[in-house]
Amino acid sequence: MRLKSFLSSGLFMSGLAAGTSFNSTQPPTGFPPCDALMQAGLEKSILLPTEPSYAARIESYWSLNSRQHPFCIVQPRNAKEVATAMTALLGADSAGDWHIAIRSGGHNSGGANNIDNGVTIDLVHLNEATYDKKTNLASVGPGAKWMDVYAKLAKDDVLVTGGRDGDVGVGGFLLGGGSTFFMGTEGFGCDAVKNYEVVLTNGTIVNANEKAHSDLWLALKGGGSNFGIVTRYDMEALPNKKLAHKVRTINITHAPQIARDFVEFTDNYEKFTNDALVVYLTHNATISKETIVGTIQVNTEGKVNSTGFEKLDEIPDIAPAQYDHITLAEAAAGSQVAGGTWMCEATLTFSNTKGLMKKAISMHERYVRDMKNAIGEENFATMFFFQPMPTMFGDISKRRGGNMIAFDLEEKNAVLWTAGVVVKTNQQDRIHSQSLMNKMTADLKSYSKSIGGATNLVYLNYADTTQDPLGSYGAKNVDYLKGVAKRYDSEGLFQTRFPLGFKISSVGS
Ligand SMILES: Cc1cc2nc3c(=O)[nH]c(=O)nc-3n(C[C@H](O)[C@H](O)[C@H](O)COP(=O)(O)OP(=O)(O)OC[C@H]3O[C@@H](n4cnc5c(N)ncnc54)[C@H](O)[C@@H]3O)c2cc1C
Ligand SMILES: *[C@@H]1O[C@H](CO)[C@@H](O)[C@H](O)[C@H]1NC(C)=O
Ligand SMILES: *[C@@H]1O[C@H](CO)[C@@H](O)[C@H](O)[C@H]1NC(C)=O
Ligand SMILES: *[C@@H]1O[C@H](CO)[C@@H](O)[C@H](O)[C@H]1NC(C)=O
Ligand SMILES: *[C@@H]1O[C@H](CO)[C@@H](O)[C@H](O)[C@H]1NC(C)=O
Ligand SMILES: *[C@@H]1O[C@H](CO)[C@@H](O)[C@H](O)[C@H]1NC(C)=O
Repeated sequence: MRLKSFLSSGLFMSGLAAGTSFNSTQPPTGFPPCDALMQAGLEKSILLPTEPSYAARIESYWSLNSRQHPFCIVQPRNAKEVATAMTALLGADSAGDWHIAIRSGGHNSGGANNIDNGVTIDLVHLNEATYDKKTNLASVGPGAKWMDVYAKLAKDDVLVTGGRDGDVGVGGFLLGGGSTFFMGTEGFGCDAVKNYEVVLTNGTIVNANEKAHSDLWLALKGGGSNFGIVTRYDMEALPNKKLAHKVRTINITHAPQIARDFVEFTDNYEKFTNDALVVYLTHNATISKETIVGTIQVNTEGKVNSTGFEKLDEIPDIAPAQYDHITLAEAAAGSQVAGGTWMCEATLTFSNTKGLMKKAISMHERYVRDMKNAIGEENFATMFFFQPMPTMFGDISKRRGGNMIAFDLEEKNAVLWTAGVVVKTNQQDRIHSQSLMNKMTADLKSYSKSIGGATNLVYLNYADTTQDPLGSYGAKNVDYLKGVAKRYDSEGLFQTRFPLGFKISSVGS
């Protein structure tokens, strides 16, 4: 219907009427940017709304927030085709105020990966995961999902530091940093990237690494979608060891002990750098009327009952812990948060203290109460995550060449707090739930400030669109990112024609 109304309006035919002869074998689509893609020889890579595969592709977005309907979806097969698409789209008639979106895994919950009024570049076919033994580098495509990357690399008995949820995509994850099970020895996921292949707005394909375009290499480590389209990540690989992987459920009445043990774990991270801990709170009426605490306790060397978890393990489980000795590929394949609903999220860091942990836990309870009143208990489920963010992660990043995120990790050990909520009803309830969440986030921030426990970092991969993760990197890094964006995209097209995600041009200096 959309397509028809556009066709009949005739408005969007202006590009053709005014333009060059149409030499594609396909009839014009009625959308200047889609016609431009056809003209450029990409007709086999375009999905139009009239095709069944188009609808399936929209459905494949993880959250409902992202299921917009672009004029067409273009699915380039390699970096060269990405460059062709870039040039064709930026050269097309921009009348009608249309814009361009980029999709890799499509897992971002805030809708920054798709667009109604414009074209989406879908990197699904850029999904390689290959290993070169000589260089110990794994080349990973942005459109791949982490579970597939791990499965492919396992054939060479290596792994890379990527996502824990197997359904998350490579592209967005690494641009925001990447929180992984390997932080204690490897820093952020992006710290393993030795080379980025990038398609710039002028259509040139560059490699950014420590020697060539090193400014772009550094900026891409946490700098988000501000410089060009990344078409390949070359990552340092690690041996594919089995993980000791334990998932537990604990009664919320043990919250004070959880807070104490989490803080102690984080403050002593250097003693057990192969351990990874995620603590979460979940209120899910289909499981329980009460909030349940969960922990994910991993040792990346496969060591069972690592001493790092000794204290936590004294807290009794509600149900028998799920204990596995498994590869990262198996862990990721078995761990995928279900999509297909509306999503809200927000994130903060605060200093690693028992008091702030307890405050955050009590704020979750208050949020649940507010949500029950607002949209009804059966219509939502919460997942609030706590992850250690000690200064030593920043030290590791620095040793590996630095990134945009780690500067804030210099002063004190912190907690990475992330609020996530599944809303099962409708967009209106999502908006309401998000505004309650934003209020809670602001309250937690001002509480942490009031007791001298505020830290700056707003982690990009978990941030809501109202937050300012790039600004949280500090004035020096903001200026740096602005300089790099200007050098590689002098016309600022990645800021204007690609408006989604966190844009460096909208950060105040
Ligand atoms: C259930 C769940 C679990 C998660 N687990 C983790 C975790 O363990 N650790 C962690 O750090 N994060 C995690 N995340 C957050 C996740 O990293 C982000 O949502 C990330 O953006 C997803 O990457 P993607 O490729 O699927 O994203 P997309 O949705 O495809 O893209 C995200 C953003 O990046 C831009 N982009 C994508 N690819 C490119 C590219 N090649 N070039 C330029 N711009 C690009 C897009 O335009 C979009 O704005 C999780 C999220 C969820 C919902
Ligand atoms: C027409 O197609 C040819 C060959 O594919 C290409 O070189 C040329 O640029 C196209 N013309 C236009 C106007 O796009
Ligand atoms: C948690 O503990 C309290 C107090 O002992 C008990 O009433 C409640 O049923 C427990 N909840 C769960 C989910 O086990
Ligand atoms: C690990 O700890 C659990 C719980 O204390 C215990 O049941 C199990 O035997 C331990 N496993 C090993 C290998 O020590
Ligand atoms: C809530 O619990 C149900 C039943 O176990 C599960 O299917 C669903 O995925 C849970 N929701 C969330 C957001 O965890
Ligand atoms: C595109 O921009 C890059 C970075 O500024 C530059 O190195 C390259 O030469 C440019 N390519 C063209 C074709 O102008």
